[in-house]
Parts: sequence; structure tokens; C-alpha cells
Amino acid sequence: MNTRPLFSLTCHAIFLLFLSLSISKFSLATTLSNETDKLALLEFKSHIDSPLNVLASWNDSFHFCHWVGVTCGNKHQRVIGLDLKNSKLVGTISPHIGNLSFLRSLNLASNSFHGGIPSEVGYLTRLGNLNLSHNPKLGGEIPVNLSHCSNLQYLDLQYNDLVQGIPSELGFLSKLQILNLRNNHLSGRFPPSLGNLSSLQNLSFLYNNLEGEIPNTVAQMKSLKSIVVSENHLSGLMEKIIAELGEGEEVEASINHH
Ligand SMILES: *[C@@H]1O[C@H](CO)[C@@H](O)[C@H](O)[C@H]1NC(C)=O
Ligand SMILES: *[C@@H]1O[C@H](CO)[C@@H](O)[C@H](O)[C@H]1NC(C)=O
Ligand SMILES: *[C@@H]1O[C@H](CO)[C@@H](O)[C@H](O)[C@H]1NC(C)=O
Ligand SMILES: *[C@@H]1O[C@H](CO)[C@@H](O)[C@H](O)[C@H]1NC(C)=O
Ligand SMILES: *[C@@H]1O[C@H](CO)[C@@H](O)[C@H](O)[C@H]1NC(C)=O
Ligand SMILES: *[C@@H]1O[C@H](CO)[C@@H](O)[C@H](O)[C@H]1NC(C)=O
Ligand SMILES: *[C@@H]1O[C@H](CO)[C@@H](O)[C@H](O)[C@H]1NC(C)=O
Repeated sequence: MNTRPLFSLTCHAIFLLFLSLSISKFSLATTLSNETDKLALLEFKSHIDSPLNVLASWNDSFHFCHWVGVTCGNKHQRVIGLDLKNSKLVGTISPHIGNLSFLRSLNLASNSFHGGIPSEVGYLTRLGNLNLSHNPKLGGEIPVNLSHCSNLQYLDLQYNDLVQGIPSELGFLSKLQILNLRNNHLSGRFPPSLGNLSSLQNLSFLYNNLEGEIPNTVAQMKSLKSIVVSENHLSGLMEKIIAELGEGEEVEASINHH
């Protein structure tokens, strides 16, 4: 007899249940994401000494979007920029940096970071600018997973202590405009896959221990303005490649003459 009201009551309850579930799911998602950014920043801080107390503002008195060096996007209050260049910071780069999933620019240049570049940086798919240059004790290998940063435009690792080979997977970085690896201790070959970097304008491998031939694929780099590979042990018909590439345009090239 009274199945109808019961039925509608049940429907109503199910609807309310569904509504409250989706609300709590939504707020859980937003809270989790910005709390993850805060946690990642605090973990990053915990691996660093700052004689100048540059990170003093990184405390609970301020929202992390107001911490020194941190830039947030207006819409989601997520970290999009971390700029702590030239701050006399000493320490290692925490793998938690890879949890700043909205990060577009990371600049830690001209400090005293040591250890390596964490491969978790590869989780930062929005990253356009990575500048870790001028950290003379920043060593280890260039992580292969850096090739997952598909939006990377500027990669500046000059004047570090990087060793081993240049990962051929860097050839996947189709938006890369600047690749500066000068003054490291990189060895092995010049990967032919780098010819796939069709947006690349400036490439410098100056002062490393690269060997073998400069690959012909260099001629495929349509946007190249400057290529500097001298002070290595490279050989090859660079002049010919540049002539083919430039077709009258000016490409600055510097090669070995010994
Ligand atoms: C995270 O976002 C939620 C919802 O927008 C907000 O209430 C909370 O204060 C934020 N927490 C932090 C640490 O930003
Ligand atoms: C947080 O940082 C500010 C600015 O450096 C400082 O004045 C304040 O005392 C700090 N608060 C705590 C709880 O450490
Ligand atoms: C963040 O990164 C670290 C190290 O990569 C990981 O252990 C942790 O589970 C990640 N997630 C959160 C939510 O902090
Ligand atoms: C590196 O990339 C591989 C896939 O190529 C993935 O399985 C691995 O989890 C990544 N590791 C880190 C630490 O990013
Ligand atoms: C990286 O930082 C160094 C030191 O501040 C600066 O000279 C260089 O121009 C930066 N690289 C890029 C690609 O912006
Ligand atoms: C990149 O270059 C290599 C060698 O030049 C080539 O074999 C490969 O197919 C290219 N990959 C992509 C994704 O373009
Ligand atoms: C790139 O190369 C051009 C041509 O040599 C030069 O004028 C420019 O300053 C370089 N840019 C960077 C960021 O190194």
C-alpha cells in the first residue's frame, strides 16, 4: 500500500547520500592537493640550511603562498613557481619537490646544493623552466625521467658537477629552447636523438668529456641559433652540418679545432 512513499523516500535518501558523497569527495580533493604542496615545501626546507635565514617566513604564521620565493596560481592556490636563486642555501634537493604538481618554474641557481637531481622532477609535467645552474657540488647523473617534463622550454644545468652520459631520452623534449650543460663532467656520446629537438635555439656542451662524432642529426634542429660543443673530445664535420642547417641564416657554432 505505502510502497510509493517508501520508494520516494529511498530515492531521496540515495540522492542525499550521493550528494554528500560528492561534496566530501570534492572538498577532500582540494584540501589534499594544497596540503600536499605545503608538505612538499616543508620537506624541501627540512633538507636545507640557510645561513641567511632566507626561509624564516616558511612557518605557520603565513599561508605558504606568501612564503619567500613561492608563487601560487590565483585560481587553485597551488604552487606554480619556486625561485630561491642566489640565496646561499646549502643542502640537497628533496624528492618531495616532485609533488608540487602545478609547478611551472623551479629556479635554485647559484646556491650550494649537493647530492643529485631527484628523478621525481619527472613528475612535474607542467614545468617550463628548470634552472639548477651554478651549484658546483650538484652531482650525479641527469635523470632520464627529466624527459617526462614535456613542457620544458629552458633547461639550465651549467656549472654543476654532473657525470655520466646525456640521456638520449632528452630528445623527447619537443618544446625545449635552451639546453645548457656547459662546465660539467659529462661523458659518452652526443645523442643523435637530440636532432629531434626542433624548438631548440641554444645548445651548449662546452667543457665536458664528450667523445665520438657529432651526429648528422644536428642538421635537423630547425630553430638552432647557437651551438657550442668545444672543449670536449668530439669530432665530425660540424662545419658541413652547420652549412646545411643554416642555409644562409646565422648559426653561431663553436667546435674543437684540435
Ligand atoms: C586548501 O583549500 C581549502 C579549500 O579551498 C581551504 O579551505 C584550505 O584553507 C586550504 N589550505 C591551505 C593550507 O591552503
Ligand atoms: C614566522 O616568520 C615571521 C617572519 O620571518 C616571524 O616574524 C615569525 O616570528 C615567525 N613565526 C613563528 C611561529 O616562527
Ligand atoms: C610526495 O613525495 C614523496 C617522495 O617522493 C612520497 O614519499 C610521498 O608519498 C608523496 N606524496 C605526498 C602526498 O606527500
Ligand atoms: C621514472 O620513470 C619511470 C617510467 O619511465 C617510472 O616507472 C618511474 O616511477 C619514474 N620514477 C620516478 C622516481 O620518477
Ligand atoms: C639560470 O640562472 C643563472 C644564474 O642566475 C642565469 O645566469 C641564467 O641566465 C639562467 N638560465 C636561464 C635559461 O634563464
Ligand atoms: C628521435 O631521433 C632518433 C634518432 O635520430 C629517431 O630514431 C627517433 O625516431 C626519433 N624519435 C622521435 C620521437 O622523434
Ligand atoms: C642564444 O644564442 C644567441 C646567439 O648566439 C645569443 O644571442 C643569446 O644570448 C643566447 N641566449 C641564451 C639564453 O644563451
